[in-house]
Amino acid sequence: MLTIKKAAPLRGEAAIPGDKSISHRSIMLGALADGDTHVTNFLESADCLSTIDCFTRLGIFVERDFTHPGHVIVHGMGMQGLHPSFHTVVLYTGNSGTTTRIMTGILAPQRFVSLVSGDNSVNARPMKRVITPLAQMGAKIVSMNDDGCAPLQITGTPLHGITYDSPVASAQVKSAILLAGLYAEGPTTVNEPTKSRDHTERMLRAFGASVETKGNSVTVTPTDRLTPIDIEVPGDISSAAYFLAGACIVPGSEVLLKHVGINPTRDGILRVAKAMGADIELVNETKDAEPCADLLVKSSALHGTTIGGDLIPTLIDELPVIAVMAACAEGTTVITDAAELRVKESDRIRAVAEGLSAMGADITPTADGFVIHGGKPLHGAKIHTYDDHRIAMSFAVAGLAAEGETILDDESCVRISYPSFFQDLAALER
Ligand code: S3P
Repeated sequence: MLTIKKAAPLRGEAAIPGDKSISHRSIMLGALADGDTHVTNFLESADCLSTIDCFTRLGIFVERDFTHPGHVIVHGMGMQGLHPSFHTVVLYTGNSGTTTRIMTGILAPQRFVSLVSGDNSVNARPMKRVITPLAQMGAKIVSMNDDGCAPLQITGTPLHGITYDSPVASAQVKSAILLAGLYAEGPTTVNEPTKSRDHTERMLRAFGASVETKGNSVTVTPTDRLTPIDIEVPGDISSAAYFLAGACIVPGSEVLLKHVGINPTRDGILRVAKAMGADIELVNETKDAEPCADLLVKSSALHGTTIGGDLIPTLIDELPVIAVMAACAEGTTVITDAAELRVKESDRIRAVAEGLSAMGADITPTADGFVIHGGKPLHGAKIHTYDDHRIAMSFAVAGLAAEGETILDDESCVRISYPSFFQDLAALER
């Protein structure tokens, strides 16, 4: 349980921890490369540690330098180098949907059997979205409770390339198929309804794989070698989002969020915040494999907006905190096309609507989003976080702008993506 009080202005600088999506991928591709991949600003959160744990069980030595947090060396053993101790390996993926889904694509073409299970939340999330395309490639994947969810039994077998029209814009699905495609006979193409985050494609290219992108379509050519690289993980825009939102809604705030990834497949919150009247300036922009910038955010009067269509995948994880901003904005915000929120770590449409209503906001949940009539003053309330890190952090931000005390029933879930969140927030409140 944690109590959040109305904040004085947020001021100062915050170094944003490494991007979760990129951290996972650095371990996965590093493990399959021929030699050592050096990673800096790796996100040492529970989800990314689940990925390290899985690859350790697959015989990969992932070296962490405890004197330099975020420094990791992945001692890759090559595309055929995964070598669990027994013919059947049991992999526990914790709360990490990303680990669970993307790993299926790596495990399907191996020469051993994998049993993959996560916690109750992961084991309730849809896995058919990866099982169906991988089965078309020849994979043998069984949902052990026959409910389309993990635990999964994956019996490694040779695969062939496919062209897959994905019904969902999901980087986890796309990545699972592309990584399986590295091992397949013939090229593999994924066509998405709208473009999801493209970190896997960018990183695969950096490791020397042949990846072609045309609009929402990606094709990978099989390879038997990935070349190790050095990776500096940018700050996670999904983590920066909480301080960005807090600085927007707490009057008198001014924060500088350092070295944040602004990949155009992830920067929807910047576009939406600006459309709502936020005062955000990008400084020190870099244009590496993953573009980055420092975000200078000052408080301002926000107004409502509409969010839907192609924008949704670019800000899917930020929608809970965007809903908080909308509750503090004048006028109406309508969010559509976000039904995916119902199958995240929790049903985020329900969790957000329930929490914001308890705080006095005028919010109506819909099948695929929300309608929020902003501008009603928020007051503190008891918030059920549903053990969902993004719900906990979003309501910590809502609490900064609310009269009275906001009580999070369980805040420990922030360990999933941002273990030092509350310390970093407190540093900005001083
Ligand atoms: C992620 C993709 C997104 C996102 C998740 C991380 C990734 O999920 O919500 O937090 O790293 O590929 P979907 O692939 O389900 O859209």
